[in-house]
Amino acid sequence: MRRILITGGCGFIGSNFVRHELATYPELSIVNVDKLTYAGNPENLKDLPEKSRYEFLQGDICDREFIASLLTSSKIDAVINFAAESHVDRSILDSGPFIQTNVVGTQTLLDCCRLHHIPRYVQVSTDEVYGSLGATGRFTEETPLAANSPYSASKAAADLLVRAYCHTFAFPAVITRCSNNYGPYQFPEKVIPLFISNALRDLPLPVYGTGSNVRDWIHVLDHCRGIDAAMRAGRVGEVYNFGGDCELTNLELTHALLDALDKPRTLIQFVSDRLGHDLRYAVDSSKSRRELGWLPQANFRDGLRQTIDWYLANTEWINRIRSGDYRKYYEQQYGNR
Ligand code: NAD
Ligand code: DAU
Repeated sequence: MRRILITGGCGFIGSNFVRHELATYPELSIVNVDKLTYAGNPENLKDLPEKSRYEFLQGDICDREFIASLLTSSKIDAVINFAAESHVDRSILDSGPFIQTNVVGTQTLLDCCRLHHIPRYVQVSTDEVYGSLGATGRFTEETPLAANSPYSASKAAADLLVRAYCHTFAFPAVITRCSNNYGPYQFPEKVIPLFISNALRDLPLPVYGTGSNVRDWIHVLDHCRGIDAAMRAGRVGEVYNFGGDCELTNLELTHALLDALDKPRTLIQFVSDRLGHDLRYAVDSSKSRRELGWLPQANFRDGLRQTIDWYLANTEWINRIRSGDYRKYYEQQYGNR
């Protein structure tokens, strides 16, 4: 791999991926196409040490002409699609942008990559396409798709398009499906950065329902290593799951955050549940371990501590986000506090 195109590289996982790849592969250069929605923040990559190997282009993955001209103008060895509307609660308020970017955007990328004979395509998907688990069991790559939210339905639709292009056109794609990521640069609408930034302001932490829903937490760099391994060694047409083997109820997670910040549990406020809230996610990553040699490296306790320390050291980053457009969404969700 000499030059790769990634989409959505100014978001949480994409920006961590850019930094990881440039640090790991000295010969690699990266083109990052990002529309810069509310979640896209070029500041996430402003500290890149090696700028000569990194090019940013503002653009929309639904813009066929733009993507096609980009693929014509330079030789690209792989395309990795991170770009998405990614927040479940927003998809409940309005699914329109989710269908547009996650489904139409993926179709546009697939068409352009196929016509330009891109040798490798990675679709960054999610464990949420499998739906919800009961008290036992884990999602494998064979678990039937049973998406429950407009967000996960749009991601599942995109996965089916990728599958169909592999089957119909022998298109050289792989799909990755990962569990909940934590780490630096995550937009503070997601539970971990939202709760850290609220706790630092002594604002309530809005726990949905009873707080008994379970998520399987993985450090974002372990996810990035998995995507890299799938790009380089994944078999065409295959799906690869990545999980952190770290199941926590939302209440356990909230207690861990408050304890680490030395804040009282009285900040917890139980609020109305998310509509259609999936009860439990847990991911079986044994295929990725076996076929890709992938192993999660982060230990949750240390990873969470480092993540909290990053947010503590970057309060201005969160302050700028919270004082901008995001404020309107936040007030709609949680009231004016
Ligand atoms: P994010 O919301 O932080 O970032 C998404 C990025 O995509 C932003 O930079 C945004 O500007 C860009 N974008 C949105 N629409 C675009 C468009 N039409 N054209 C170009 N760019 C566009 O999301 P994230 O948490 O970094 O997630 C990245 C990917 O990983 C998504 O596909 C998501 O479904 C998937 N994923 C996320 C998690 C998680 O825990 N966050 C877990 C598994 C999979
Ligand atoms: O599983 C992978 C998915 O993880 C990704 O595909 C999504 O892009 C990503 O957003 C994430 O989805 P979740 O809905 O699980 O993440 P979120 O941080 O929004 O919520 C995590 C849990 O915390 C969930 O059970 C809902 C709960 N929650 C969330 C918020 C924002 C609360 O209790 N209160 C809140 O304010």
